[in-house]
Amino acid sequence: MLRSVILAAARNKWVERRVETTPISRGLVRRFVAGTTTEDAVRTTQQLADDGLLISLDYLGEDTFNAAQAEHTKDEYLRLLSSLHAAKLTEAAEVSVKLTALGLLFDPEGAYVNAKEICDAAADAGTTVTVDMEDHTVTDSTLDIVNRLRVDHPKTGAVLQSYLRRTEADCKEFSGPGSRVRLCKGAYKEPESVAYQARLDVDRSYVRCINALMNGQGYPMLATHDPRLIEIGLDRAKWFDRSPDTYEFQMLFGIRPNEQKRLAADGHRVRVYVPYGDEWYGYLMRRLAERPANVGFFLKGVTGK
Ligand code: FDA
Repeated sequence: MLRSVILAAARNKWVERRVETTPISRGLVRRFVAGTTTEDAVRTTQQLADDGLLISLDYLGEDTFNAAQAEHTKDEYLRLLSSLHAAKLTEAAEVSVKLTALGLLFDPEGAYVNAKEICDAAADAGTTVTVDMEDHTVTDSTLDIVNRLRVDHPKTGAVLQSYLRRTEADCKEFSGPGSRVRLCKGAYKEPESVAYQARLDVDRSYVRCINALMNGQGYPMLATHDPRLIEIGLDRAKWFDRSPDTYEFQMLFGIRPNEQKRLAADGHRVRVYVPYGDEWYGYLMRRLAERPANVGFFLKGVTGK
């Protein structure tokens, strides 16, 4: 119930203006977001890389209907990739992009062209791109674009969400040689017709998807903080006889950082998803929806109590 309310608020412009102009807990934004500038992003990347972690950087923004904004987002990714290259960080760091920030909702072909430019720049810099997944209304158009990007850039990553009923089949389809698939539970408010609603069903689907990906020929990227699913991922990696360089774990910046370091110290590849930029509202609300304890922390910031 609380999750649904917060996720509805995540797309409400009135609430967004209120939250953004309230002196809300800056600590909470700082906990989940690396800063606002390219320099902030590169600095955080360097710190994580020094700890033996891999990184995927996300320039915050989504759902734009404005061509200039989409162009600005693409330009920022190009600037970021060039800065990562100059700092010799492209072995450790890749980028994650949201197609709705690149124009998917009003100009799908333009979004593809923008994403292709980012993939070209990433390849020139010696790294890769993963295309984030958004709500179910754009699943097909997002996967279509990922498939087109993979023609020239076969390592372009796709994201699949275990809460969607379709995802086990998608995992099988996307587990061919060379594919990179990030598996997550899914962060949006979705109707029962397309998505499992009970946590247990989402988790069971996640396990079936791990099996499909680990049994395939691609590179599974298990994005979760859930200790049980991480254990199952480790178990399946053994079961399917995978060496540690053939899969990775992924977690969000600011969530379970000690576990990130522990897994890395145990010899596993661990990638931290690092968001930066001014457009933190939707991202922060999804993080609040995932954990009621964060809401308490947030409300304390809003009310000053
Ligand atoms: P779950 O929510 O059950 O959490 C398990 C445990 O992790 C909790 O008990 C708690 O200890 C900790 N935890 C989880 N969330 C927390 C939080 N916000 N604050 C503090 N602790 C928390 N989604 C999507 O729809 N499209 C996408 O492209 C992506 N991309 C993505 C990349 C990466 C690297 C990650 C890790 C996640 C995503 N997600 C995503 C988000 C994902 O779908 C999901 O909403 C979150 O990862 C939370 O789910 P968990 O699997 O962590 O389990």
